[in-house]
Amino acid sequence: MNYSLFDDASDMQPWIEPICEGALILRHFSVSDEIALLDGIQQILSKHPFRQMRTPNGHRMSVAMTCCGEVGWVSDSNGYRYSAYDPENGEHWPAMPDSFYLLAVQAAQEAGFPDFKPDSCLINQYQARSHLSLHQDKDEKNLGAPIVSFSLGIPATFLFGGMQRTDAIQRYHLAHGDVVVWGGPARLRYHGVAPIKEAAHPLLGTQRINLTFREAI
Ligand code: SIN
Ligand code: FE2
Repeated sequence: MNYSLFDDASDMQPWIEPICEGALILRHFSVSDEIALLDGIQQILSKHPFRQMRTPNGHRMSVAMTCCGEVGWVSDSNGYRYSAYDPENGEHWPAMPDSFYLLAVQAAQEAGFPDFKPDSCLINQYQARSHLSLHQDKDEKNLGAPIVSFSLGIPATFLFGGMQRTDAIQRYHLAHGDVVVWGGPARLRYHGVAPIKEAAHPLLGTQRINLTFREAI
């Protein structure tokens, strides 16, 4: 992948936008692989459709989720955890498609994390007004591995805070094809997604899909 110094939306050249030490955005990274990603998502959804999970305190999340990989992230009245099985049907989560794995590893490499070996991919579906409250990703065993997060479809405002929930928040516009990577000293930074604005994308329609790759177990 060749990086240019400037954002050139006309030809979707990838470029890197730093956030802080350990965190950056790979702009336009996955645009050329969008069809492979969408095919993979469709296959996963055929057996493991999006569902709105409940938080441990009983609230239904506005983001709908499904998973692939050795384990998937699940939430219910018993708490947040990784499970090898889809609680909706008791079946093992589907394997992570090779194309997903290779793209996630490549993105981590570009971001300076050459040893990333994701075993879990959470697939988040946002509709207009869906949001994700500020949180830390800390249910994973290997906190030395980064989080690699792909955006597809309609845009979002990504909220990136500090190590405390009350720290100042930076806001980043995330478009189709952008990938955020955070690890090292940034691995436990609070982050979230502001309420999604109504929009339409030529391939994905009125939704945003986010793929979050992690070394979970
Ligand atoms: C997450 O934090 O799990 C998802 C972030 C996103 O949707 O961009
Ligand atoms: Fe997260």
